[in-house]
Amino acid sequence: MIKLQTGLLLSQIAQHATEAAAVASARWRGLGKKNDADQAAVDAMRKAFAEAPFSGKVVIGEGEIDEAPMLYIGEELGAGGVKVDIAVDPLEGTKLCANDAPNAMTVVALAPQGGLLHAPDMYMDKIAIGPGYPPGLIDLDLSPTENVARLAQAKGVPVSDIRACLLDRDRHAAIIEELRRAGVGIRLIPDGDVAGVFWTTETARSGVDIYFGSGGAPEGVLAAAAIRCAGGQMQARLLPENEQETERARKMGRDVSAKLTLDDLVPGAVVFAASGVTDGSMFEGVRFGDGGAHVDTLIWDSFSGRKSRVRSFWPV
Ligand code: FBP
Repeated sequence: MIKLQTGLLLSQIAQHATEAAAVASARWRGLGKKNDADQAAVDAMRKAFAEAPFSGKVVIGEGEIDEAPMLYIGEELGAGGVKVDIAVDPLEGTKLCANDAPNAMTVVALAPQGGLLHAPDMYMDKIAIGPGYPPGLIDLDLSPTENVARLAQAKGVPVSDIRACLLDRDRHAAIIEELRRAGVGIRLIPDGDVAGVFWTTETARSGVDIYFGSGGAPEGVLAAAAIRCAGGQMQARLLPENEQETERARKMGRDVSAKLTLDDLVPGAVVFAASGVTDGSMFEGVRFGDGGAHVDTLIWDSFSGRKSRVRSFWPV
């Protein structure tokens, strides 16, 4: 009962926060100002959390206290209540929003204290698949070819029927070449790997079976929350780029060589919420009209297993 109540409470708080951030950042769509769009999302999300009936602490945020004035790692928010770890990406795909390109969204994951990995803001190597496969099917330490072969066999299809998703980055050239040589179709995305990972949970709709490659560690923890709710599989490893980053990770108690499992990333029950800012394959972007804003939001609650899709109207 307590679990159910926690899930419901966190779902409402998460939904409120992602919707507020979506409405605020949507005003900046297409204006070419990614930092302003991000700041608008941060301000709105922070206000939503400040008023919420919980004792929240940001564990995945907008950077360290001296770098980011709001929603920094360690910031405490809320009007009091159950102790909750907060992971935020107030605007995932800042460039997408600035260019009014598909798939910009606002993302939050909430879990009882200790329920989300405290990850520094650096790169992370990721691999993910959706639900319905035997446990331990994918492995970050296997080659991309081996992983897609295992997936194809479990799915009962030829490798050429598997579709992978990766960020379109030079650093992924070797993986892309290897997968293409194996005959795998690849969806290359300009930004937004939370969506890329998320798509694996709804293959029938998205067409994406597996996610590969490196992106932000904060985005990795948020995407893991979605995978946890969907019952999929994910592994990750931090990729510090220099000694300073390695030291930062160590200070947060992270072993940079460790292969992180889903249980490391999101050890227990979690709520994942995301709202569309621009139109995309997961969401309709915010629509202004009728004296307000219409917002499209997903709320997944692994406490109860409930998955909701809500269209809200915000008077503005
Ligand atoms: P922002 O919203 O912070 O701009 O991040 C977009 C993003 O594409 C993330 O989804 C991804 O994890 C990261 O940037 C990848 O970083 P990089 O652009 O350096 O490859």
